[in-house]
This record gives sequence, structure tokens and C-alpha cells, in this order.
Amino acid sequence: MNNNKLYNLLRNFVSPIVCITSTHNGKYNGMISNSVLRGSLLPEIPRIIIVISKRNMTHDMIYNSGVFAVHLLKTNQMNLVWELGFFSGRTKNKLHNIEYEFKESDSPILKNGYAYLDCKVVNCMDVGDSTCFLGTILKADIISEGEILTSEYFRKHMPAKWSDKYQEQLKEAQEFAQKYGDKITYKQWKNEH
Ligand SMILES: Cc1cc2nc3c(=O)[nH]c(=O)nc-3n(C[C@H](O)[C@H](O)[C@H](O)COP(=O)(O)O)c2cc1C
Repeated sequence: MNNNKLYNLLRNFVSPIVCITSTHNGKYNGMISNSVLRGSLLPEIPRIIIVISKRNMTHDMIYNSGVFAVHLLKTNQMNLVWELGFFSGRTKNKLHNIEYEFKESDSPILKNGYAYLDCKVVNCMDVGDSTCFLGTILKADIISEGEILTSEYFRKHMPAKWSDKYQEQLKEAQEFAQKYGDKITYKQWKNEH
């Protein structure tokens, strides 16, 4: 199978569009992801898996604090995808105009959205350019019901004026993955957070 075909085949495995927030050293940040997976079949052991590029500031916050929150978004929150997914918190305070509160971990929990999962990292796996974090869900709730923002919806409704920046970001992320993707290290997660 050629690479283009394989790329499109793998697209079937993307998750809904979520906002992932975290904190470290008194700073708060959030980003957009579509690489999230259910990590357990049991509500008694509720777990979620997220894969985040090491390029992202949110990655380092999660790695250093051991906490994060995942939010399902609604279709009327496309603006959040622009604000949190197209710029890095390294250059500006992206949560400045966004309302949030705190629940179990210190991660910001958005006041608007479909639902949140407030999590603590219990393990991680190095993926070269990214880290795969396994989180245990400390607290979760529906914030307000609506239509969940899926990747399919995002692709269909992304405003045309976002397209250049989206392609540019994707290219940069792919170049980073090409450079570091096979540089996997085998480290153990230390539960000292
Ligand atoms: C639709 C969409 C999906 C994204 N999916 C991912 C993803 O699965 N993993 C990831 O690491 N970054 C993903 N990103 C990119 C980050 O959201 C983006 O790099 C962000 O600026 C990181 O912010 P930070 O540096 O403040 O953490 C996605 C962005 C968009 C717009």
C-alpha cells in the first residue's frame, strides 16, 4: 500500500476533537487533539489514553506535573480549535479569555464543553516524537449536552481561511515526527507526582 493510502486508512482511527489542559509551576495551558482512546472497559477502573507530540507545551506540563484533563467539545465550539490548536502556549496565554475552574487535579476544567475527564497519569510510553500517557480518571462529568465535535465534522466545517495555517502546522508536525519518530527511549514512569 502506498503512503498516501496508508495515511488515509489510519485517519479512520482518529478520535473526536478534544481539548486537553494541564498545569505546571503555576501556569495553565490547553491544546487540541484527536488522538485519545478509551483505556479501560471498567467504570471501576476508568482510564483514558492520550498521545501528544513532544513539540507541544502541554506535553511538557503533563510530563512534569502528571496531571491533565480531557474535554469533549461541541460543534458550536470550533473557535476553541482555532484558539488552542493553532498556536502554542509558549508564545501566549491561550486560556486568558476562557472560563475554567478546578476539580480533582490542578488541571483547568473548562466551564463550557460537552464533558470533562480530570486525570492523573499512571504510566507513559515514549513514542519518539510523542508520548503516550495512560491516565486514570479522578472525576468526570457532563458539562452540557449538545452535538459532539468529531474529527469528521471538523474536516467538513473547517473555515477555508484556516486551511493554510492548518496545512503548515501539519507539515511541521510531520517533519518533527520524521526526525524523532524512531528515537524511542525506554523509561519507566515514576509515580512521584
Ligand atoms: C484538529 C487538530 C487536531 C490536533 N491533534 C493533535 C494530536 O492528536 N496530537 C498533538 O500532539 N497535537 C495535535 N494538534 C496540535 C496541537 O493542538 C497544537 O500543536 C497546539 O498549538 C499545541 O499547543 P501547546 O504548545 O500550547 O501545547 C491538533 C491540532 C488541531 C487543530
